Amino acid sequence: MSIEKITFGKTKETDEVLEYLLKRNGVTLGILNYGATIHKCLVETSKGVRDVIGGYDTVKEYEDNDGYQGALIGRVGNRICRGKFSIDGVDYTLAINNGENSLHGGLKGFDKYIWTVTENSEADCDKLIMTITSPHMDQGYPGKLKVTVTYTLNDDKSFSIGYEAESDRKTVLNLTNHSYFNLTGFEELNVLDHKLKLYCSNFTPVDHTLIPTGEIRPVKGTAFDFTEEKTVGRDIEAKDLQLEYAGGYDHNYVIDRTQEVSYRNTTLFKTAALTSPDDVLSLEVATDQPGVQVYCGNFLHDDIVFKGSKPQRRRSAICLETQHYPDTPNHPQFPSAYLDKGERFKTTTLFKFTSR
Ligand code: BGC
Repeated sequence: MSIEKITFGKTKETDEVLEYLLKRNGVTLGILNYGATIHKCLVETSKGVRDVIGGYDTVKEYEDNDGYQGALIGRVGNRICRGKFSIDGVDYTLAINNGENSLHGGLKGFDKYIWTVTENSEADCDKLIMTITSPHMDQGYPGKLKVTVTYTLNDDKSFSIGYEAESDRKTVLNLTNHSYFNLTGFEELNVLDHKLKLYCSNFTPVDHTLIPTGEIRPVKGTAFDFTEEKTVGRDIEAKDLQLEYAGGYDHNYVIDRTQEVSYRNTTLFKTAALTSPDDVLSLEVATDQPGVQVYCGNFLHDDIVFKGSKPQRRRSAICLETQHYPDTPNHPQFPSAYLDKGERFKTTTLFKFTSR
């Protein structure tokens, strides 16, 4: 029922980094003004409190590592092929930071911004309203863009992320959050025994640089099928070129959008349900976005240390990044990620825990 503010550290450029703690009914969210990053997410269960989102103990580690732990991703989540796209016949070239492609907004994405924060507590929720302004041609993207992200912690063990934006000229936009979930509280340093259900009958296959080929492929009968709950690891080593390219699951799923969830005057759709191996904790994700990037930390390095001196491990956690499909600006058949001049961009994703 309150928001507490504590000092977290300083960036290399000596900006002060604060952590805002939102606490309600057995859930504590710790959010940094650096990258609008979720630093921690403590959930009470019958077996004790679990911190289910990965992260680091210091600002320096957030600055130095490339895993986007808990971060707000923008302007465009995931990859843009060779960092090139065009709008109405004008070509744009982005900062390249992932092989030959542009990933998660470029060299200085929104995960590296210091956000301005306003706190607001209401009877049934606590809110953190975070804003930045990204200048015209930031990382190569056109349009001066004002972004507002609102983290809302509700009474029912759920939190939402609301994204709003407005640009002064036509641009492309695809905002998401890059939290790595492990519902054992990182007691088990692999996520393969977690159970996962995806409300997704199709996914977008990729080439060897993880750029979508443009195909929308049914998951039925393949290792990608999570329409019935199964463990994350059951088929991860199956012989499948798509799994080989990504070293496991790192793919955009097309959300079926058949099962509605009403949330504060918006209609969302069931997207994913994740359950800890001991069944003590579940997480349900719902969104109004068309896709979700399911990434099980195939590229996490073993040599990095997480919060609380826990070693980070390959495949120790899973990201469920609700978003537009990767490389959308280069695939006119994908749901559009254009934002017109003056148009109001608005999207919401809800994360709801059930603890037993
Ligand atoms: C991408 C991965 C990438 C990771 C970076 C995910 O969203 O799908 O390919 O390695 O972000 O942390």
